[in-house]
Amino acid sequence: MTARCRPDQGTAKLALRFHFATTDLPMTSPDSSGTKKRIFSGMQPSGEAHLGNYLGALRRWVGMQDDYDCIWCIVDQHAITAGGDPSETPGNVLDLAISFLAVGLDPEKAIIFVQSDVPEHTELAWLFNAVTPVGDLERMTQFKDKSQRFDSIPAGILNYPILQAADILLYKADAVPVGEDQKQHLEMTRDVARKFNAAYGETFPETEPLIAKDVGRIMGLDGEAKMSKSLDNTIPVLAEPEDVWAKVRTAVTDPQRVRRDDPGRPEVCNVFTLHNFFSDDATRADIDAQCRAGTIGCVDCKRRLSDNIADAFGPFRERAAELHAHPERVREVLDDGAARASAIARETMAEVRDRMGLDWRSAIG
Ligand code: TYM
Repeated sequence: MTARCRPDQGTAKLALRFHFATTDLPMTSPDSSGTKKRIFSGMQPSGEAHLGNYLGALRRWVGMQDDYDCIWCIVDQHAITAGGDPSETPGNVLDLAISFLAVGLDPEKAIIFVQSDVPEHTELAWLFNAVTPVGDLERMTQFKDKSQRFDSIPAGILNYPILQAADILLYKADAVPVGEDQKQHLEMTRDVARKFNAAYGETFPETEPLIAKDVGRIMGLDGEAKMSKSLDNTIPVLAEPEDVWAKVRTAVTDPQRVRRDDPGRPEVCNVFTLHNFFSDDATRADIDAQCRAGTIGCVDCKRRLSDNIADAFGPFRERAAELHAHPERVREVLDDGAARASAIARETMAEVRDRMGLDWRSAIG
């Protein structure tokens, strides 16, 4: 059992209060001593969150906040490895923070902060270079995919999972809720912890990945690839109803349905899969039957989905509008979160530096 510092949840006397969306059940429980397990997760700031982020991550995070000691991070230093225009990064961080708060992440229950506000993340990542084989990094699927886009591959793309391991282990997180695409990075985090512990003594836990089966990989509107901003196949969570419709109407459906009265197969249709998250049982049963009978067209089916998504996210849009009008409230949340995260990070780093012999003054006494 590794020692660790607990965040002072009591310092977060913030004016913001949020209502919570319902969500799926947490996948592990507090330990037998009654101490809450710690959960960490992160998201890259590429602007507003999209439906894949929401179903695969944010909705689950919201539901974990009462039962776990939660830390939610906007990982802006990971985002720089994707290139992009630096002048857009601050706005993207603000937009993602607003998405976090609008969907129900609660600064009174969890630490919410921006990675670059806590420099210990990059310090620990550097130290983890000492125990991470280059071969393991080169075997990462995301590295293989992303590196193909470059003639000269930036080292940041190779070392990306080391920074992710540092994010998680800096807080000695017990578990990390993520989508399926992060599974390999979580395995690497466990490897880094094992190798560090073997070389320098028991310091870090072997963090458990929490990947939900039904939402681990939400498909994009193209029906071909994971929903992802870079593929432009997403629905932004805070979009206005007409913008949700503009996206949903382009969604690919069962390719066998060419004419409106062709019988459809809901089980292969991504639009129907999304109905599972946003439409009630009666609506789904009705659409299922009518699609198979060829009595409802794909446009009608999409219209019902679009209306239900826009309704479900209505309260999020309202909270987001309020926060856009008062960005100082977001700053207050993130500043407070950074202070609380830093307190934990400093403790871990003191222990790590000591274990790695990075304390020359001890030679003098
Ligand atoms: P990122 O920013 O790509 O995605 C954030 C979270 O959303 C999930 N997700 C999805 N889940 C299901 N279906 C989808 N279509 C979908 N798209 C995104 C992701 O799995 C993730 O949980 N490397 C990470 C960020 C990161 C991190 C961390 C995560 C950095 N440090 C420490 C956890 C712990 C990433 O790029 O996620």
